[in-house]
Amino acid sequence: MTADLLKAKIRHVPDFPKPGILFYDITTLLRDPAGLGLALDAMAAPYTDAQVDLVVGMESRGFIFGAALADRLKAGFVPVRKPGKLPSRCLSVSYDLEYGSDSLEIHADAIEAGQRVLIVDDLLATGGTARATIDLVSGLGAEIVACAFLVELTFLKGRARLGTTPVHAVLPYD
Ligand code: PRP
Ligand code: MG
Repeated sequence: MTADLLKAKIRHVPDFPKPGILFYDITTLLRDPAGLGLALDAMAAPYTDAQVDLVVGMESRGFIFGAALADRLKAGFVPVRKPGKLPSRCLSVSYDLEYGSDSLEIHADAIEAGQRVLIVDDLLATGGTARATIDLVSGLGAEIVACAFLVELTFLKGRARLGTTPVHAVLPYD
């Protein structure tokens, strides 16, 4: 089964980036040509007929899957970036972390109102990154088709923060 095959290619690193955290390292999947292809196939499958105009990917791991998925779906790609990286006028949104807060930005002219957008990232954890991206993208008047992830850490209940936006994750971890 594809999910088991993909899960077998993701390396588990205990105590990274700090003690007690089990890090799901996708670099071991990315470097495997067959694994990368299967992962992209599985992420794209629900959306092949969804008339996606733009894929929005979040810096930095969302860029890896987002641009490749955009190409597969014959859509354009729009980056959501960490603060101070985008050169033209931006929309910015802050979101809470465990300690403190962070923010994300998108170019104000990156999406036209009504365009159909698929939001893509490698992993859904607490949902803070995806929530902020939904706020940015809806702030520009887009129609959000869904959020697509390779991995979902279901026990963190990030999905609950994403409201009514449809969510698809290829590899849920309980
Ligand atoms: C990781 C991951 C997701 C986010 C998920 O990114 O790539 O974007 O965390 O966590 P959340 O659901 O709790 O927001 P990170 O911010 O570590 O940066 P990176 O993509 O640049 O590695
Ligand atoms: Mg990320």
